[in-house]
Amino acid sequence: MNAIAFADVSRRYGDVLAVDGLDLTVEAGRTVALLGPNGAGKSTSINMLLGLLRPTRGRIEVFGHSPDEAVARGEVGAMLQSGELIPELTVRELVAFVRRLYPSPLGLDEVLEMADLTGLAGRRAAKLSGGQTQRVRFALAIAGAPRLLVLDEPTAAMDVESRLRFWEAMRSYAEGGRTVLFATHYLQEADENSDRVIVVAGGRVVADGTAAEIKAGAGGHTVRFTLGGQAAAGLEALPGVSAVEISAGTATLRTADPDATVAALYRGTTLEVRDLRIDGADLEDAFLSLVQESR
Ligand SMILES: Nc1ncnc2c1ncn2[C@@H]1O[C@H](COP(=O)(O)OP(=O)(O)OP(=O)(O)O)[C@@H](O)[C@H]1O
Ligand SMILES: [Mg+2]
Repeated sequence: MNAIAFADVSRRYGDVLAVDGLDLTVEAGRTVALLGPNGAGKSTSINMLLGLLRPTRGRIEVFGHSPDEAVARGEVGAMLQSGELIPELTVRELVAFVRRLYPSPLGLDEVLEMADLTGLAGRRAAKLSGGQTQRVRFALAIAGAPRLLVLDEPTAAMDVESRLRFWEAMRSYAEGGRTVLFATHYLQEADENSDRVIVVAGGRVVADGTAAEIKAGAGGHTVRFTLGGQAAAGLEALPGVSAVEISAGTATLRTADPDATVAALYRGTTLEVRDLRIDGADLEDAFLSLVQESR
């Protein structure tokens, strides 16, 4: 069962093609990160998924229905990038109000507890700090116990500790088969809190897989050594190597298997290898190289 299906979805704003032929499906029960730089089309995609914005082309389904139907059935909860709380209501009143809009909501105290708001329940929305406001917005998103939870940059304005607690709450909400889609440009957040990362840039999917697969696909590791004036022929053929760059007497090999590459470099070539260095590409490198390649 797919929670989300985008079939050849595009969205244009005048001259800007914000989303360009997006094809993707998300199985129910998954937690998926939509990772991309500013302007990649994350919010546009999310707003279309929620039925707030119409695609210029293509079709979107949420649990087999149109986004409007899925939302009307109470199957979707969302935390958007913008949106004000009603300033004169208390946190408890806001959550109580929103949960009554859904057919089978979570308990009021349960929601407050999950969003770490029990101690702030009596405070008026107008008096909340930025990070506290984000927690209330999370509470409103989960109040109806939606099967699909959609979060657009949920940790913006949160400090380090709030972030950690937030992701804990999100993971516990996702347990038991709920589906979560969140947008972020924090690579580490995507890596640590999702089981699938979809990298978007320029309105298109440029990579899709687990964080580990994305790292491997972007070259994984680099093996670097001083080549001096020696001829470099044959380096491309070493095991694991996907690219070779020679510059100022230094050879840089991108490899998915640095152990095998280095073993073969010593045993299988007659090169004199000096100043050998192996670096692991982290998700940040992988992400940047993917986004740059797509330009
Ligand atoms: N209402 C609008 N009118 C015109 N252009 C828009 C509008 N909304 C978004 N865009 C453009 O569409 C593109 C995608 O924007 P979108 O907000 O979806 O990106 P994003 O990935 O959410 O970025 P961010 O990380 O900054 O939130 C951008 O080039 C943006 O300038
Ligand atoms: Mg956005």
